[in-house]
Amino acid sequence: MDAIVIIVISLIIIWIMWSAVIGAGFEPTSKNLVTKMLEMAEIGPNDVLYDLGSGDGRIVIEAVKNYGASAVGIEADPIRVLWSRIFLFFNGIQDKSKIKWGNFFKEDIIEATAVTLFLGGKTNQKLKEKLVKELKPGTVVVSYIWTFYDWTPIEVNYRDRIYLYKIGTSNV
Ligand SMILES: C[S@@+](CC[C@H](N)C(=O)[O-])C[C@H]1O[C@@H](n2cnc3c(N)ncnc32)[C@H](O)[C@@H]1O
Repeated sequence: MDAIVIIVISLIIIWIMWSAVIGAGFEPTSKNLVTKMLEMAEIGPNDVLYDLGSGDGRIVIEAVKNYGASAVGIEADPIRVLWSRIFLFFNGIQDKSKIKWGNFFKEDIIEATAVTLFLGGKTNQKLKEKLVKELKPGTVVVSYIWTFYDWTPIEVNYRDRIYLYKIGTSNV
């Protein structure tokens, strides 16, 4: 019996820690800042937004409902995938959005016209190669709190720590 309890507790700890190990732990962006990120990216009906590490799906939902975009979330945590898919369903937006269960380092993001991130400094740094390789010139990347050390943002909201980059401009 004790062994079963230890195994279950260990599995729960691994489950909670796994996302942090492969990218970043869960912490939702506030609704107000989600709006500021999407405004800064000038999201509109022609956009396909990818939220890498989509958590509870709030950025995906906001992009579709209030900006008319199509949106894809990629999330490693199966519980949050399930939860955000339920939110998509109850918001009636499954035709314009989806949540993929997976590791964003391994998923195709080529169709994105805008990417949102709330991850970590090291994870952003690791993502650079993929972003440059897969995203089309002109694709915007909005990162909350964390910058890309040697890329120059084209716009910064210092107060809220939101950074906007554009693939193919300055040194990106
Ligand atoms: C700080 S939360 C941000 C959630 C959401 N984007 C938001 O702004 O509210 C980071 C999310 O990224 C997920 N994550 C971290 N690394 C990942 C990876 N390599 N692939 C997919 N999801 C990942 C975590 O599980 C977590 O839900």
